Amino acid sequence: MQLEVDITGKHFENAAGERHDVLAGIKFSLHAGEVGVFVGPSGCGKSTMLKILAGLDHNYQGKVSRPAVARLGMVFQEPRLLPWRSVEDNIRLAAPHIDEKRLSELFAVLELTEHRSHFPGELSLGLARRVALARAFAIDPDFLILDEPLASLDDALAAHLREQIATLVESRSMMTLLVTHNLDDAVYLGDRLFLLSARPARILQEVPIPTPRTRRSASEINHIKADLVRRRLAKI
Ligand SMILES: Nc1ncnc2c1ncn2[C@@H]1O[C@H](COP(=O)(O)OP(=O)(O)OP(=O)(O)O)[C@@H](O)[C@H]1O
Ligand SMILES: [Mg+2]
Repeated sequence: MQLEVDITGKHFENAAGERHDVLAGIKFSLHAGEVGVFVGPSGCGKSTMLKILAGLDHNYQGKVSRPAVARLGMVFQEPRLLPWRSVEDNIRLAAPHIDEKRLSELFAVLELTEHRSHFPGELSLGLARRVALARAFAIDPDFLILDEPLASLDDALAAHLREQIATLVESRSMMTLLVTHNLDDAVYLGDRLFLLSARPARILQEVPIPTPRTRRSASEINHIKADLVRRRLAKI
């Protein structure tokens, strides 16, 4: 299974017909088992790109080849839960065949057990994000797209969920795309990092991390993070 991406352009037009270029030059491929991480300035076009890659937006220039059979799990930047459905029903709607054992495990891992029967309006943003993660994991995706999934969570919970995402990624041969502003997430989870320019976004540089995720030491992670900071400062 493989994703082939060559987006040469994407623009929006406002009501006055003015053109707003958002993407320019996004070319990469991703294989099953790989995690591609995108790091780029706010507003550069990351969420727009992910929606194209998820097949939700066909209005762009270029070509995206996605595996036709892939089960897609997507965590949007905003949690997008159905407000009139309980937490549990939000997940069951996405994953109707999930069994009780797996559902309970997911709730336990994401520390959501006591919120099972709550409605989205009763949740904090961090809780709602966890429900959105549970919903994406529940369908056992082959292709997982995560748009800043750990934003607004406290450090301890973010680190815990990062581990959970890593475990999920290791447990199945899945293609994963992650957008983050957090370099810990990027270096801990990514196999290949893509540094994006300001809008219209293009890939400035691809940074591979050859050491397998499970064998990365704290010192190697710190070394790569420092390198990324240098590159960002140098705007490479
Ligand atoms: N539906 C839309 N119509 C018009 N303009 C849009 C639309 N969606 C996004 N944009 C514009 O496209 C640009 C990129 O937006 P996008 O949400 O992709 O950025 P981003 O990199 O995800 O930002 P952030 O890091 O803040 O989430 C922005 O200037 C935004 O205003
Ligand atoms: Mg975004």
